[in-house]
Amino acid sequence: MYRSHTCGELRSGDINKEVTLAGWVQTVRKLGAAITFIDLRDRYGITQLLFGEELSPLLDATPLGREYVIQIKGIVTERTSKNANIPTGDIEITVQSFTILNKSAVPPFTITDETDGGEDLRMKFRYLDLRRNAVKKNIELRYAVSRSARNYLHENGFMDIETPFLIKSSPEGARDFVVPSRMNPGQFYALPQSPQTFKQLLMVSGYDRYYQIVKCFRDEDLRADRQPEFAQIDCEMSFVEQEDILQMFEGLVKRVFKDVKNIDYSDAVQRMSWEDAMWNYGNDKPDIRFGMQLLNLKSAFTRAGNLEATGELINGAGFGVFDNAETVIAIAVPGCAEYSRKQTDELTDWVKRPQIGMQGLVFIKCNPDGTFKSSVDKFYSEDKLKAIATAAGAQSGDLLLIVAGREERTRKAASELRLEMGKRLGLRKADEFKLLWVLDFPLFEYAEEENRWVARHHPFTSPKPSDIPVMINNDPAIANAEKYLEHPYSNIKANAYDMVLNGNEIGGGSIRIFQRELQEKMFAALGMSNEEALDKFGFLLGAFEYGAPPHGGLAFGFDRLCAIIGGSESIRDFIAFPKNNSGRDVMLDAPAAIDQKQFDELQIKLNLQ
Ligand code: AMO
Repeated sequence: MYRSHTCGELRSGDINKEVTLAGWVQTVRKLGAAITFIDLRDRYGITQLLFGEELSPLLDATPLGREYVIQIKGIVTERTSKNANIPTGDIEITVQSFTILNKSAVPPFTITDETDGGEDLRMKFRYLDLRRNAVKKNIELRYAVSRSARNYLHENGFMDIETPFLIKSSPEGARDFVVPSRMNPGQFYALPQSPQTFKQLLMVSGYDRYYQIVKCFRDEDLRADRQPEFAQIDCEMSFVEQEDILQMFEGLVKRVFKDVKNIDYSDAVQRMSWEDAMWNYGNDKPDIRFGMQLLNLKSAFTRAGNLEATGELINGAGFGVFDNAETVIAIAVPGCAEYSRKQTDELTDWVKRPQIGMQGLVFIKCNPDGTFKSSVDKFYSEDKLKAIATAAGAQSGDLLLIVAGREERTRKAASELRLEMGKRLGLRKADEFKLLWVLDFPLFEYAEEENRWVARHHPFTSPKPSDIPVMINNDPAIANAEKYLEHPYSNIKANAYDMVLNGNEIGGGSIRIFQRELQEKMFAALGMSNEEALDKFGFLLGAFEYGAPPHGGLAFGFDRLCAIIGGSESIRDFIAFPKNNSGRDVMLDAPAAIDQKQFDELQIKLNLQ
């Protein structure tokens, strides 16, 4: 028996027990010639070992270095100086014998919470990084989330069914990773971007509640919340409407909150239309932990019931930036009217950074003494400034920030500015969780470069029933790309929903098309010829002819869900062996060249440009 207990287990109740422990040497402290203390670590914790006058001198002959793996036998004894910071801090083991199970080279960084290792080094030696408590906690949290989700899904009748990884490349979505086939020279598999079509086929097969915690592969540009291979909690249900799905899966997240964080999320999950999200927050995944909604003073988009966006308050004052802008958006930042010139200059520089891309920032200070001061005093009387501030819902003491320019960029900039101010004011607390359903997405987006409609979600998403005739009865062709907003397709809404947690899209899904005719119409709307649709998705169209039930589902980004619950921005922290931002595994040094023999077997000739 290698060990009788773990290094996190023994307490004062175990005093006088004879125990065997095994683990890694965390620290060695010599106290004179007669006493050596060693902290022994394993996955469960740290236990202090005391090598007394008999054994301590032996350590001079065979010193124990950091990360040596040792086994010790000894007696649990009470510690003279207790350590309240660790659960085993009341005891130590008086060692009677020890064995070195394996030596260790000096680790390239300290295996401690606050390590001296930089990101690259830690990734290169990820197996050492994973020994650190901070990383281990994240991996444990990931397992807790998966266990909780699996329990919930199992209790609700979902079956875990695996789907293949070697599939066929398909034209929609991100870029595929492809795998050459040796047995079929010149032909390639693709790795799935998600099991979407398989889970729909499982519905046709009658497995009416499916789930899988599954790897997905997408060759896209990476960010903190994106990896080329990531995991989804992928789910699908038959004989359901949107409402059934929303209920089922907000139940899942609430259960995870309870099981993993002991949080009772009893509030109903808020719901917001995509249009409201874009209008009031400037993006489709608003962080609703704080207010500071955008006020559209002027907008290129007309929108029923939004009279404030006519430009009436700001146009015609001779201030060209506002007069000529497509869009002008204000944000009232609470309690910041006292900002100094230096602070407002710094904010102006912030919006001018290339990532934000604004020409400048206008501000109105709503001073506590009732006066209004602005960087555009020259053009607007105090009464006008007051009227703008009032329309924006600004209170006394607020600082009103205003950006202007092209519609899309300005909306995005205003959204980023809102998030930045929320962060600076400490309103985006990592331990506060706010869920939101964003509903009623547009079914199509117009891709200018390709001059065609693309599916906003994916091509299997059903339009709202009332919009089906609009889709069937209108030709997708666009005569004038500039005016795509006037095409009936731009108003078609999807039966699709995203789940947003603290401003992050943690999941998304839809009610699916389940009739062949409508699916064919959808492919045609996306500019696919009949032949192409049959070549790429013939199996699905065929399946729809054999009694496909109405169905729908959703997939959670599993890594993202874990990262947000764990209070981190980066999903890498929650993946045992992640890739870096260039998609490299620096530990394996992958991707890498392959042997000529492998090329020969595949009958592939490299032709690097
Ligand atoms: P979607 O593409 O929206 O939907 O993906 C679902 C969720 O997966 C997460 N996600 C990612 N996480 C890490 N790295 C990535 N590169 C990445 N891409 C996406 C997001 C996202 O909400 N088949 C559909 C689901 C469905 O319709 O049922 C799908 O894959 O959190």
